[in-house]
Amino acid sequence: MPIKSRIRTIPDYPKKGIMFRDITTLLKDPVGFRLVIDQMTQHYLEHGMDFDVIVGMEARGFIIGGALSYTLGKGFVPIRKPGKLPGDVVGQEYQLEYGTDKVEMHTDAVVQGSRVLLVDDLLATGGTALAGAAHVEKVGGIISEMAFIVNLPDIGGQKKIESKGYNVFCLAEFEGE
Ligand code: PRP
Ligand code: MG
Repeated sequence: MPIKSRIRTIPDYPKKGIMFRDITTLLKDPVGFRLVIDQMTQHYLEHGMDFDVIVGMEARGFIIGGALSYTLGKGFVPIRKPGKLPGDVVGQEYQLEYGTDKVEMHTDAVVQGSRVLLVDDLLATGGTALAGAAHVEKVGGIISEMAFIVNLPDIGGQKKIESKGYNVFCLAEFEGE
């Protein structure tokens, strides 16, 4: 488990009862970061790249989304926290594991009919990824797949997302621990 073993768990953060899976320990390790990008790149080279562009969720989704855009030779589109994008945006509030949040995307960032790989570091409730998908679809884009480093199946995001018909790809899972 070369990826999973490099992810640190911090109990009771940001509040009691939450086991925070901290990818900073994975990313600061040059072998760990390379493994993440190489494995994701390999997956899409082997299974085909059924997408035109990569969309990453601020903030941690930018780290792998940016690197993956480079290795796969695809453009990168950021979905950002409110007030950060200068052009016309589509925006929507969404539920997190703890609280609510809002994100925005430039309305002209994804061309109508184009296929999108949505990327983030972690899948918990799926709220962030579904908000990302809603933005992409609002401007006429199509979600080809959603890719994450870490999946937390106990929280139910993967089931929720797959029940809505989206494909999910994850490199590591923390289940029942
Ligand atoms: C975290 C994580 C994912 C999201 C996963 O982001 O990076 O984006 O939560 O949770 P969900 O599946 O329940 O939506 P967070 O909003 O904490 O902020 P950050 O990426 O800006 O650090
Ligand atoms: Mg995030």
